[in-house]
Amino acid sequence: MNILILGSGGREHAFAYKLAQSNKVSQLFVAPGNAGTAKIATNIAINPTDFSAVKKTVIDQKIAMVVVGPEAPLVEGVHDFFLNDKELQSVPVIGPKKDGALLEGSKDFSKQFMEKHNIPTAKYQSFTADNLQEGFSFLETLNPPYVLKADGLAAGKGVLILNSLEEAKKELEEMLTNQKFGEASSTVVIEEFLDGIELSVFVLTDGKSYKVLPSAKDYKRIGEGDTGLNTGGMGAISPVPFADNDFLNKVEERIVKPTIDGLQKDGIDYRGFIFIGLMNVNGNPFVIEYNVRMGDPETEVVLPRINSDLYDLFEGVAQQTLSEKSFNVTDKTATTVMLVSGGYPEAYEKGKLISGLNEVEDSIVFHAGTKLKDDNIVSNGGRVMAITSFGNTINEALETSYKNINKISFDKMNYRKDIGFDLHESS
Ligand code: AMP
Ligand code: GLY
Repeated sequence: MNILILGSGGREHAFAYKLAQSNKVSQLFVAPGNAGTAKIATNIAINPTDFSAVKKTVIDQKIAMVVVGPEAPLVEGVHDFFLNDKELQSVPVIGPKKDGALLEGSKDFSKQFMEKHNIPTAKYQSFTADNLQEGFSFLETLNPPYVLKADGLAAGKGVLILNSLEEAKKELEEMLTNQKFGEASSTVVIEEFLDGIELSVFVLTDGKSYKVLPSAKDYKRIGEGDTGLNTGGMGAISPVPFADNDFLNKVEERIVKPTIDGLQKDGIDYRGFIFIGLMNVNGNPFVIEYNVRMGDPETEVVLPRINSDLYDLFEGVAQQTLSEKSFNVTDKTATTVMLVSGGYPEAYEKGKLISGLNEVEDSIVFHAGTKLKDDNIVSNGGRVMAITSFGNTINEALETSYKNINKISFDKMNYRKDIGFDLHESS
């Protein structure tokens, strides 16, 4: 069985790492991949949103399953493209079709979905340039801080949290009338601020049944103590200590089941991952957002904790037999720490030689922005690699990640030294 993974980050390296362990997988391809995936799979230098190039790869390499890493190809309809093409129809795609991908592609759609299916989330209303004044009036009914969200995909930058009403009104106008986030902010969701602690829960579904994957918490800010600019994610921990059985039962009953049932009721045949961003408000889970893919770097702690054969689970998704598949997870804690280029998430340099990787012991190195240059591995992005380790506690796992990070170096390498800082006491 040959498999093609679309994407090039740490998430896709983690998919490749897990799938390479399955004896049902013969050849693995990653498009476009990175220097890490090149070691365990064949990289194909194409863009995942270039569907005709994806088609050519599937046919040339006799691919029998496609696993989609990032959201863009899903939102742009890669799964629908396969179903509408006679030569590709029989190749299963792990990831939703366009209708399901709207859960991430449109905040307004996802809020309506939650409201319709009674899934706990912040109160909200949506506005366009035509009813800006009503948007102002709605803001006046809320207490600060004010949360404004561009409806469409805005490269993770479309959410603003503002402390004053005046600022919130100004930004709403910028988004709606001056297209601050382009087309993505032609509709804006304004919602109530939820005060709590964030975590994520991941679900794999075949549209009929589901498996709840391990929980994780990521660290999005560049600076220690959760300060500074937002990034794609600087590190992650799984499981989340405060997500105990009682809390996770609430997540399953109040959120996961109604989400899967809601998709079915709405006629959305969803086959893939659902990443549920949650706020724990006094022990009660509220949905902040849905993503229609796995998180990065959350995947780098979630997948290594799954003992089951990932290909077998994907086969269950494709054939709608997921309920028959066994699924088990290690009790160990996994942590990952992202090594990033100096300057990231603003301007940074690429092409820096990375040394020390051969000295890493007892950690898994998941490559993100790396590439091979001659026989060397060089940086090729803002987030360069994630160093994942296991332990009996968060501290133990982090100690191993940081010990190995000390052996790795590249010019202007940066990383957060405090991943998990807020969770240590409870570990
Ligand atoms: P999103 O893109 O919807 O995940 O929003 C980005 C970030 O904004 C989230 O990870 C939260 O930290 C924060 N956020 C979004 N919505 C809310 C809310 N209603 N209350 C508090 N924080 C929020
Ligand atoms: N780490 C957050 C995300 O993948 O969206």
